[in-house]
Amino acid sequence: MKRSIEEHAKRFDAKAEEYDEDKSPEYHACRDLVIELAAPTSEDVVLDLGTGTGAIALALAPVATRIIGRDISRRMLDQAEAKADAAGIETVTFDTGRFLEPNFEGAVDIITTNFALHHLDDSQKRLAIEQLCTRYAPRRFVLGDVMFFDRPDPDEPFYNPEVDDPATVGRLVEAFTEVGYAVTAVKAVHDQVGVIVAQPLP
Ligand SMILES: C[S@@+](CC[C@H](N)C(=O)[O-])C[C@H]1O[C@@H](n2cnc3c(N)ncnc32)[C@H](O)[C@@H]1O
Repeated sequence: MKRSIEEHAKRFDAKAEEYDEDKSPEYHACRDLVIELAAPTSEDVVLDLGTGTGAIALALAPVATRIIGRDISRRMLDQAEAKADAAGIETVTFDTGRFLEPNFEGAVDIITTNFALHHLDDSQKRLAIEQLCTRYAPRRFVLGDVMFFDRPDPDEPFYNPEVDDPATVGRLVEAFTEVGYAVTAVKAVHDQVGVIVAQPLP
């Protein structure tokens, strides 16, 4: 990991109030795909990790029975809570939690995450996927993020090599298959941004 959890939390605390402004078309396309592919039913509990200001969690709230949003940045969570309050959404619970310690004991049907897992190094990403799939056994796992379909290009705007640590698509797919999940979709938004959908093998 190129920054500690505390350093990442501080970085996002500092940008929380402006976070929703000026997002790239690729960010919007990735977010929309994660929302579309998560496709919860009215009975599903969704765990959204690295929830930030609630882009995924708040979009899924009208459909799912319960959404659990977890993040390491208290100020990002404050923004998410303010948005939920303003919209009168009561089915979302935001609290601190991280990929490797999600701080949620209940059953989970679907796990989502968007533009967050790339803060972990590859061995931690693999461990997080393994722990989450083993512990919650979600019916579906939807991972949208910076990921390399091609050679990494630090001149592209989607990641900052000083703080971000994106994986290749191959490594992410491998992490799911190693834990007994089948990858059912890989969608490229850009050659450095994509969405992976995985589900347990029958
Ligand atoms: C680029 S934002 C994405 C937020 C949101 N998912 C979205 O689509 O707008 C990344 C978020 O991941 C959070 N984050 C970074 N490392 C994390 C970790 N280890 N566990 C949980 N959240 C983390 C950050 O605090 C930040 O809110």
